[in-house]
Amino acid sequence: MVSTFSQGLEDSGCQYLPSSDLVSSPSPNQLLMPLTARLSPAGHLEIGGCDVPALVQQFGSPLYILDEETLRTTCSQYRKSLQQSYPGESQVLYASKAWNCLAVCAIVASEGLGLDVVSGGELYTALQAGVSPEKIYLHGNNKALEELQLAIEAGSTIVVDNWFDLQNLVSLTGSGHHMDPVRIMIRLTPGIECHTHEYIRTGHLDSKFGFDPNQLEEVFQFISEQPGFNCIGLHAHIGSQIFELQPHNDLAAVLVQWLSKAAHYGLPVQELNVGGGLGIRYTEADDPPSIADWVKVVSQAMVAACEAHNVPLPRLLCEPGRSLIGTACVTAYRMGSQKTVPEIRTYVTVDGGMSDNPRPITYQSLYRSVVANRMQEPLTETVTIAGKHCESGDILIKEAKLPATEAGDVLVVMATGAYNYSMASNYNRLSRPAAVVVRSGEANLILQRETYQDLIRQDRIPERLKFKDDL
Ligand code: LLP
Repeated sequence: MVSTFSQGLEDSGCQYLPSSDLVSSPSPNQLLMPLTARLSPAGHLEIGGCDVPALVQQFGSPLYILDEETLRTTCSQYRKSLQQSYPGESQVLYASKAWNCLAVCAIVASEGLGLDVVSGGELYTALQAGVSPEKIYLHGNNKALEELQLAIEAGSTIVVDNWFDLQNLVSLTGSGHHMDPVRIMIRLTPGIECHTHEYIRTGHLDSKFGFDPNQLEEVFQFISEQPGFNCIGLHAHIGSQIFELQPHNDLAAVLVQWLSKAAHYGLPVQELNVGGGLGIRYTEADDPPSIADWVKVVSQAMVAACEAHNVPLPRLLCEPGRSLIGTACVTAYRMGSQKTVPEIRTYVTVDGGMSDNPRPITYQSLYRSVVANRMQEPLTETVTIAGKHCESGDILIKEAKLPATEAGDVLVVMATGAYNYSMASNYNRLSRPAAVVVRSGEANLILQRETYQDLIRQDRIPERLKFKDDL
């Protein structure tokens, strides 16, 4: 019979809290909690040496808590695995759409990673964070002229997605004689299926991203005639939250085949970018491969494909997002109202919800949670954790096993580093939460909590609409 949080973990054979001997070795994407998660002497959840209820006391709630050690570990695991498994040059890019803000960009760049950005806003943030422009790659299936211009001026690489991009680049570079050629890569749709939510699948042929394979030779021909372009590589991304290794194995062969075709058109293609997509563990049922295993498969497949086509090894790029930052962050909420519907369920409510984590309502994503101030109490309740938004679907977790709780307790939802803050909204005019980075007992603010003034900062009320409600 499951009685406490820790026993429950043992019974289910899953590992929420890493034990100390595992700290140096596990792949964080295979854990449910950040590497530094511990039980404090008071029986509280501790992350990065900081007591989680105390963080909430100090910084308010909801609060994103980013564990620096976990993030740095995933970065170095990708980098070192590539160095070990791939005999050629390589570069890891962080897919910053997972969480783009100044501090996250700065940490990732300080680990030697480059960045994938998908908008002028992400590019601007990366540049402001001090990321070297030549390590930034601009993606997007509908880039604005200003976004292209910003990337060109910064000296970043543009991942060309379609003919619209090419036409816009021609208009920006003109004859190309008076400026350095613009570095571009070509994104292609590889036609590879994988098993993940249909909204986050991108590699199949019916995708809005990238050139269709049957147009690629025409694209190569066109680019080879442009003096303003320096086409350094090819790119493909097959989807996100993927546990299979086979699709990435197949992708290497597809990319190398196109690389050798591009060479026939005289394009100086030396980089191949295999995208991101490695999944993480959100619940005990999730069993993703480790970062090292993923990198090994990608590397070996690339080497094998190059041998088969008799081409030199390209510079190998990959651009993970979720598996770099997903497990590194948890979200802490204060619990509030409870409602029991007899014989049906008990709702317990937190002070955030779909505005700080839109993934459950958008993709039916599953999450796990703990009560940070009751880590050793028996898990006697099965409850539904609801957000505070005016929407019945605003449910974070349908069936959570928790101890008995009361208003004021601190509920922690795990693995919220990827696509939570970056997809957060102000729905119902809730302020976006604060975020702290924790390390060795120190907590530093990286995102200030929005205030009510922030919420109306962009509002304007025309003079003729101003009124005093004295009717
Ligand atoms: N590269 C490209 C071109 C991408 O489109 C993506 C993700 C990545 C890399 C990084 O993929 P990752 O390693 O994170 O799987 N909002 C969704 C996920 C959307 C993914 C979009 N593209 C979610 O919350 O699940």
